Amino acid sequence: MKIAIGSDHAGFRLKEIIKHFLLTEGFEVEDVGTFTEESVDYPDYAFKVANLVSSGEFPFGILICGTGIGMSISANKVKGIRAALCNDLFTARFSREHNDANILCMGGRVIGEEVAKEIVKTFLSSTFQGGRHKRRVDKISDYESSTHCN
Ligand code: RB5
Repeated sequence: MKIAIGSDHAGFRLKEIIKHFLLTEGFEVEDVGTFTEESVDYPDYAFKVANLVSSGEFPFGILICGTGIGMSISANKVKGIRAALCNDLFTARFSREHNDANILCMGGRVIGEEVAKEIVKTFLSSTFQGGRHKRRVDKISDYESSTHCN
């Protein structure tokens, strides 16, 4: 499975750890940056990953900034994106099972690397349950289609 990953400077260190973790687990990874700890703007990286997921080229993306908040706000502006900020295992699981999240956002200044790896594992191994949850997610997509111009 192909995963798109990106971070700002505050998420850079954790992004590198998660990227290597994913490669070890056999995933294909596209890293859109950033590649140093020099200060950058998180929306630039959020939009890159979100567009790769929105295009259908990548089923899932992972975005990391200091808190994960800026990345999730930004990614959710892109059509078709359901970005979930998950800094714990419970929300990681239910973001997939109930919300069909397609981008996982985490806070590099909030969680440690072992918890982050478990969150990633949980997110990628959980499955959307459909049913009543699909009806709700469809309402989001329908609203988005009625308000977006593209
Ligand atoms: C960068 O200092 C920080 O604001 C950013 O990484 C993120 O936490 C924003 O939501």
